[in-house]
Amino acid sequence: MTSSLKTEAATEGRLRFPPEFMWGAATAAYQIEGAATEGGRTPSIWDTFSATPGKVLHGDTGAVAADHYHRVVEDVAIMRELGLSAYRFSVSWPRVRPAGSGPVNPTGMAFYERLVDDLLASQIRPVLTLYHWDLPQELEDAGGWTNRDTAYRFAEYASLVADRLGDRVGVWATLNEPWCSAMLGHGSGEHAPGRTDPVAALTATHHLLLAHGLGVQALRASRLAADAQVGFVINPTTVRPASAAADDVDAARRIDGLMNRIWLDPVLRGQYPADVQADTSHLTGWDFVRDGDLDTIARPIDLLGVNYYQPMLVGAGEPPGPVPVGSPDAVPAPSAWPGSEHVRFLQPPGPLTDMGWSVDPTGLRELLSRIHRDYGDVPLVITENGAAYPDEPNPAGQVHDPERVEYLRGHLAAAHEALREGVDLRGYFVWSLLDNFEWAWGYSKRFGIVHVDYATQRRTLKDSARWYRDVIAGGGVPVG
Ligand code: FCB
Repeated sequence: MTSSLKTEAATEGRLRFPPEFMWGAATAAYQIEGAATEGGRTPSIWDTFSATPGKVLHGDTGAVAADHYHRVVEDVAIMRELGLSAYRFSVSWPRVRPAGSGPVNPTGMAFYERLVDDLLASQIRPVLTLYHWDLPQELEDAGGWTNRDTAYRFAEYASLVADRLGDRVGVWATLNEPWCSAMLGHGSGEHAPGRTDPVAALTATHHLLLAHGLGVQALRASRLAADAQVGFVINPTTVRPASAAADDVDAARRIDGLMNRIWLDPVLRGQYPADVQADTSHLTGWDFVRDGDLDTIARPIDLLGVNYYQPMLVGAGEPPGPVPVGSPDAVPAPSAWPGSEHVRFLQPPGPLTDMGWSVDPTGLRELLSRIHRDYGDVPLVITENGAAYPDEPNPAGQVHDPERVEYLRGHLAAAHEALREGVDLRGYFVWSLLDNFEWAWGYSKRFGIVHVDYATQRRTLKDSARWYRDVIAGGGVPVG
């Protein structure tokens, strides 16, 4: 593979990708659909969270978002115009199974059936994510991801969707970035449901993994989706220590454990990392893990989805000392890092995006190679990669976004290097097709390759969309 890819690159002036490579863009239901109360949809934890003062910047909510629910035909036409070969979207659980349990809502399901049919008619492969963070509020009221039952409700929901769409959707993902659901949702409280309890974060971690495993089983058992490819989408990253000093290296081990191995090891090796369990043993005995759970979680998957934005740079902080009983310091600050709250996060080198995230494609190449080296041959897909910049149309109505073009070019080149190193990489999805509701940042961060004017819902291709169209048409990234 190495030499043929090199030769083609040299002869055709492009870093060429395999012919069957999926060239896609990604979105998520709550971030684009709007229509929050239409067609029988019930509230999700993100409706509740965003309606809570102080949780989302400027009080923004997903009630209208990019109005994709009403503009799906126009949006698929944009995908066609870009020449996408695949589109990754998520299904809203409270839209298709309101309140989280009970019968299917035919109106909600019809929306996704129409979307999928339109994609197929446009020669675009639908890539369906079942859970991109919008848990039905009723399930949260019953304990949410800290309640083991939620994993079983998820498996039922997976079956219901597979029974309606399994004949037309060939690629499925169970969960998107469960790290965010567990750790930002239950540890730091920056995401819905906004809890700040390290034990809840670890309990949710296990129940999310269990939901994944039960979901894989449910999809495989479904008559229609039996032959589909099933995957798991996480946001692992390259974690670098601030120095070679032992305590900085240990900080990197801890964060690598909580960010990467706590998801990869159970799914791909059938075990939790022993060091992560040791790092958190003062918080919990992990008795939420029951006999047989890890076998369920480790059911074979066909694809691992990797969402990558930036690497991490970490160093040792002050380990917490004994605190006097009753002192305000006895209450730890909310943290997304249970048991490793003292680790310091440093700004990695490189230019910054509008999120303050560093641009460093070397982290992507290293990450893909590392997963390949440590976890074997599971095929990988870059299910999200992209950058926010404060784009606005100029008076002529064009949106010039040269930084995003550079970001995408650099990361696609890094992906190509990983392919040359022998990584089995099957596709790349830009985050995101459209500007959208960026969670706690509301509409203030624009990740789209297509600009959305939220006042008029007018869509405008940014330069990056035109550049990506050329990449897809040419089968790779122009060089030189
Ligand atoms: C990821 C999420 C996605 C989007 C990007 C910027 O963590 O999966 O929904 O918000 O970040």
